[in-house]
This record gives sequence, C-alpha cells and structure tokens, in this order.
Amino acid sequence: MTAQTPLGVAVVGAGYWGPNLIRNFRNAPDWRLVAVVDLDLVRAQEVIGGSAEVLATSDLDEVLAREDVDAVAIATPAGTHRALVERALRAGKHVLVEKPLADDVGSGRSMVESARANDLVLMADHTYCYTPVVQKIRELVEDGSLGDILFIDSVRINLGLVQPDVDVFWDLAPHDLSILDFILPGGLRPTGVAAHGADPLRAGKACVGYLTLPLEGGAMAHVHVNWLSPTKIRQMVIGGSRRTLVWDDLNPQQRLSVFDRGVDLVQQSVDQIERADRAAATISYRLGDTWAPALPEYEALSRMVGEFAGAIREGRTPRTDGASGLRVLSVLEAAQASLRARGALVEVAAETPTLELIR
Ligand SMILES: NC(=O)c1ccc[n+]([C@@H]2O[C@H](COP(=O)([O-])OP(=O)(O)OC[C@H]3O[C@@H](n4cnc5c(N)ncnc54)[C@H](O)[C@@H]3O)[C@@H](O)[C@H]2O)c1
Repeated sequence: MTAQTPLGVAVVGAGYWGPNLIRNFRNAPDWRLVAVVDLDLVRAQEVIGGSAEVLATSDLDEVLAREDVDAVAIATPAGTHRALVERALRAGKHVLVEKPLADDVGSGRSMVESARANDLVLMADHTYCYTPVVQKIRELVEDGSLGDILFIDSVRINLGLVQPDVDVFWDLAPHDLSILDFILPGGLRPTGVAAHGADPLRAGKACVGYLTLPLEGGAMAHVHVNWLSPTKIRQMVIGGSRRTLVWDDLNPQQRLSVFDRGVDLVQQSVDQIERADRAAATISYRLGDTWAPALPEYEALSRMVGEFAGAIREGRTPRTDGASGLRVLSVLEAAQASLRARGALVEVAAETPTLELIR
C-alpha cells in the first residue's frame, strides 16, 4: 500500500446519511469505494446507481473477507454500531463510525479498546468538526486569540422530527458536544452535567432540552436543543477573556464574527501600606472592532474522509478519534442520569487510563 494507492472502503448503511459518505468516498483520490452493504439489498443497489465497479450486498461477512477492503464506514442506527464495529475490527479493518459512537458508554469503551488492541484506527464522524468555520474556531482558540474561555452558549433549535427511538438530547446534542470536544483545549471534560428536559406534547420523551456543563477553571458551557421551535437557530457564542466569537451557521455572508471586546477584572490594592490584604475589584470594559474571518469553501465530509485516510496511512490518531466519541457519549449518558434526577448535577464517567493513552 503506497501513498498513491487508493485505500479500499466499504460503507455499511445506505439510508439517509450513508449516501453522503458514499458520494465523498467516491470523489476522494485517497479512496476507492469497493462495496455498499445494507440489510435492504434494493436500497444498496439503488444508492450505487448500477455501477459495475461497486458491489451492492446485504452480506457483511463477504465484504469483510475481501483483501481489497482496508476500511469500513458504518452509517447504521446507533444501537447497531458496537456489533458492526467490533466485527469489522476483528476482521482487521479500520473503522469510521457515525455519531453517536454507540448508544451507551460501556459499548463505546469496548469499541475503543478493541481498536487499540488490534492497532487499528477507530474514527467518529463528527462532521461539524471538519467544517471551515469550526476549523477556524479551533485555530482561534488554540492560538490564544480568545484568551481564556469564560463561557460557551450553543443553540440548536427548529421544528424537528420527533424521533421514534431517541430524545432531543441524543438526536441533536452530539453535534454541539462534539464541537465543544474539538475546540476546547484538552477536549470536553466538564466537571459535571445538569440536564433539564420538557415534553409539553406528551410525546413520551424530551423534545426541549437544556444542558449545563461547568468546565474546569470556573467557565461554563450551555447547550439548548429543541424540536419544537418554529424559528431555526444554529448559533454558538464563545466568550473569551480577550475576544468573543459568534458563529451563526444560518448566515452564510458572515458565519463567524470576532468581537474584540470584553470585560477585564482588575485587582487593585487599596491603601497598600495600611491594609495590605484588602483589594477591590474594578471592572473595565474594552471596546474594539468586530471582524469576520475569511473562510474557505469546501464540503466538511470531504475533509473528514481525507482525515480518515491520513490517520490510516500515517498510523496516527485521527482528529475525531474513538476517544472523542466516547467523551461525547459519556456526557450524553450523564445527561440521562441528570434528567432522571430532575436536573441534578451528575458526574461524567471518567475515561480509563488506557483511553488517556490513546488520545
Ligand atoms: N454526521 C451527521 O451529521 C449525521 C447526520 C444524520 C445521521 N447521522 C448518523 O448516521 C447513522 C445512520 O442514520 P440514518 O439517519 O442514515 O439512518 P437510516 O435509518 O436512514 O439508515 C440506516 C440504514 O442502515 C441499514 N441497516 C440497519 N442495520 C443494519 C445492519 N446491521 N447491517 C447493514 N445495514 C443495516 C438500514 O437498512 C438503513 O438503510 C446514525 O448513527 C445517525 O446518528 C449522522
């Protein structure tokens, strides 16, 4: 396998999301789409559009036995991820798995450990992390442009389909949480999670949800997800000690704004000689420019499949690895526990020392 030889990939799951992966693998010079697998064979055949070069099948074992398949991308419902991922890993294939990594932390942990034991890449498709805007936000956080992060406020609301199997947290919050994991230095490691949900339509699950995530150092992140809002809002505000970012995903003219404004808390000693221990805090407001960084144009999924190939070829951890999927999963599971405890602050399951090594 040289750097020039495309890697062979099979996509499992050709429902709503699978075709997006298929299109991007087909267009990527790093990849050759070898097979599409779906329990619904007709669906798999439809999606490949009669191509003689791509196998459409409902038999995963047949595909896993092929030597020209280096990797498998899994786009089936979350409850099926663990079994499919572990089958592919046992067959020696690298795996890309759709968000959420699994439907419980125990499964996610087992998947991450299997990948590690087999020395194979396990990557989570946290698609938003590969958008130009999130890449830029990460860059601005990393290079210190924002200073220390003080607060993050994320809103993802619209009239959404009430999902049959999951509540609004599991449906929408993986996006916000994976973005937080990607941009926060050291990943998403809240000191706890408090979740409040409402089901005003009596749908049997939360349709409106609020997550509060205290972060180390005193900062706080807040996520609002909602299927019942007639207005669509996709906005994230990231407040820093030096600058603040506002990302409005529905405003293509100015998706990202940087506010060079902020609040400084200055500790001033009052009468240092006579009362050395007394200090007064004064607040000063900085008023500066607002500007919009230029963002390149490309499809996030094309970057994502490129990152998957890069990680395999270079034998390195991908940017959104299994461990990042597991951190997102741990927060979702803690949120469920908090909902059951009527919004109490719940601890997030710690990663095991083995997982620390993977990151
Ligand atoms: N990254 C994103 O932004 C994004 C967006 C939407 C969905 N997703 C994720 O993609 C995954 C799939 O979601 P979807 O909306 O496409 O679901 P879907 O129900 O539309 O499609 C799932 C497909 O998988 C097939 N399938 C189910 N079990 C299978 C198995 N064991 N073997 C082979 N095929 C099997 C089904 O026949 C179906 O065609 C989910 O994890 C979802 O969260 C990600």
